[in-house]
Amino acid sequence: MIRRKLLFIWIIAFVSFFPVFGDEGMWIPMLIEKLNIQEMQEKGLKLSAEDIYSVNKASMKDAVMIFGGGCTAELISAEGLLLTNHHCGYRSIQKHSTVEHDYLTNGFWAMSHKEELPNPGLKVTFLKWMEDVTGKSLEGINSGMSEKEREERISENNQKIITEAVNNSHFSAHIEPFFAGNQYFLFVEEVFRDVRFVGAPPSSIGKFGGDTDNWMWPRHTGDFSLFRIYANKNNEPAEFSPDNVPYEPVKFFPISLKGIHPDDFTMVFGYPGSTYEYVPSYHIKMLTKEVYPKLIDIRDKKLELMNADMSADPKVRIQYSSKYASVSNSWKRWIGEINGLDKLDAIAKKQAFENGFMAWVASDPASQKKYGTLLPDYRNVYNDLGRYRLARDYINEVFFRNGAELVSFSSKFANLIDLVENEDSPEKVSSAASQLISLTEGFFKDYNLSTDKKLFVALMKKCGENMPAEFQPSVFINIHSKFNDDYGKYMESVYKKTSFFNEDFLLEILNNPVKSKLKKLKNDPVFQIFESADDLMKGKIYPEYSRLSLELKSLNRKYMAAQMEYQKDKIFYSDANFTLRLSYGSVKGYIPKDAVNFKYYTTLKGIIEKDNPQIYDYDVPDKLKELYKSGDFGQYAENGEMHVCFIATNHTTGGNSGSPVVNAEGQLVGVNFDRAWEGVMSDLMFNPDQCRNISLDIRYVLFLIDKFAGAGYLLDEMDLVE
Ligand code: ARG
Ligand code: GLU
Repeated sequence: MIRRKLLFIWIIAFVSFFPVFGDEGMWIPMLIEKLNIQEMQEKGLKLSAEDIYSVNKASMKDAVMIFGGGCTAELISAEGLLLTNHHCGYRSIQKHSTVEHDYLTNGFWAMSHKEELPNPGLKVTFLKWMEDVTGKSLEGINSGMSEKEREERISENNQKIITEAVNNSHFSAHIEPFFAGNQYFLFVEEVFRDVRFVGAPPSSIGKFGGDTDNWMWPRHTGDFSLFRIYANKNNEPAEFSPDNVPYEPVKFFPISLKGIHPDDFTMVFGYPGSTYEYVPSYHIKMLTKEVYPKLIDIRDKKLELMNADMSADPKVRIQYSSKYASVSNSWKRWIGEINGLDKLDAIAKKQAFENGFMAWVASDPASQKKYGTLLPDYRNVYNDLGRYRLARDYINEVFFRNGAELVSFSSKFANLIDLVENEDSPEKVSSAASQLISLTEGFFKDYNLSTDKKLFVALMKKCGENMPAEFQPSVFINIHSKFNDDYGKYMESVYKKTSFFNEDFLLEILNNPVKSKLKKLKNDPVFQIFESADDLMKGKIYPEYSRLSLELKSLNRKYMAAQMEYQKDKIFYSDANFTLRLSYGSVKGYIPKDAVNFKYYTTLKGIIEKDNPQIYDYDVPDKLKELYKSGDFGQYAENGEMHVCFIATNHTTGGNSGSPVVNAEGQLVGVNFDRAWEGVMSDLMFNPDQCRNISLDIRYVLFLIDKFAGAGYLLDEMDLVE
């Protein structure tokens, strides 16, 4: 008994004297020297802070980039070869795909530089350096200013800082707020625009498991693709040209063949998009009780309808697969977030924190003066914010985001209708019309009238039933009174009169955009539905939503500063904002639920176990089955097993897709591509027991390139470390 008590006291003492090594945090590369390097080295890192981020010498940051507009990628050779996810390269791969050359289905491998495919519009962005510019950004700011005045002044200041930093070079720059606007950092970047497609496995590998396995562990997706950066003869960025040559970087990642093992140190270096770790309990309540359930419900319906038509007709499956994936991705994450936050009792945890915080505020008159009204002010804002946020999201779901498809399609014609009506210059009119021609052709390639009609009926009905009258577009007055809420009948009447599903008719107008014809489109019932939804958004929802958001912004800034004063000894990290960050943790399995214990890696054997030629997402290519049977894994196997994916405790989020996962020596061991279901609430609250990032084992990537694709020549330019 006494011994037990002593042990207990000892544990308490231990826990309070030594900071617990959590794996939460997305750290600013420039500050790891000061904040993190000691802990990282204690956890196993063999590198210095300078090896990771330096402005004076080549460092790891020179090999990491933003890929396109929302992913991360890394350099893996001295000839500009880069690695990212299959789902990040998807758009580019799709654009090159035709019925004759279906690279999505069959994969693609350039067998020489000559065969690499250019991708107009695709760019990669490297960080050259960053700088804390808080002092200069906030020059002239005082507490008497309104939030709007403050924003204007900061934006003026920032413009000056940016001009000075860029200084007529070919670099570009931007400034981002950190810690909810308490700090500002400048980012100077170099953008390359000649990025060529080198290779990707077929979707049956790169998207194996599809939306069923998405956000889930155990996972077997070979989610990678390869591209190459080209530069001009001076190794500088240039527009596409056949004369360009492969970019020679100052740094690329060596690749480890050693694999990863339990508790190994790992870090993820990339571009996490956004997190909300310091919000008050009201925010979590708003999302999990007010907003997400309604959005999940409406997407349940979309997925059900799309799925039925996709299963019935292979043509529809191709047309709607990318829409389905995008609807499903956030839908599934929201459900996971609600579960994860419930399990954590996140609202009660936040409330307990807020009580402690308020007691601290009340104990000191100066704090009371600064922060005394903070939480009541928050409560007031959140009283209204949820309704407006839901209304905004709901109207978007119904009309503009994979909802009633003709309505959002018709919205694209608004600009042209305006231009023609106002007799604007012929150049503007014809440029708008020609843009619409390619948009129209693209739209109809992936459009199925009967699916759209079903979506229209179901989603309009949801809107009519779930949105209060004040947040229903004005066309609903007519639906309620004249159609007696018979949404099927309403749809029939609209689709009988509309021309928006008539591709030939639209193309004819676009090829000769005269006033009389565009007037027809303006009076089209589908366009009028768009206008009524647009009026509601612009006239009613946005103004109030923006006003509340601005108030929230100022409260968040105050609350962030207050939390930092309250928890003086805590080391804070700023919420993700799509700037370069470093997360570190260790390789670890987890226990998702009672009696289930997840191992930290999956293998090719698991792919074969999931094989089912009847199910599109689980149809394993024959070649992969043969390789499995023959056991021909080369130098890529470990104890006879071909590892495929692994999990670790690194704190990541959307945007981290494609990020390098690096071992203690700074060698590439994986490519990040997802998070495990039980931990997706980490954008709002991190739980070290349940939060895991999912990575592709780099040895599976090499195995596929070498043995599956027969593109082993690519391995020659890599630096493989045994
Ligand atoms: N969940 C991952 C991410 O958020 C992968 C999404 C793409 N894959 C999919 N099956 N929808 O981006
Ligand atoms: N798949 C996500 C992305 O594309 C990463 C998964 C996550 O949210 O952590 O960025």
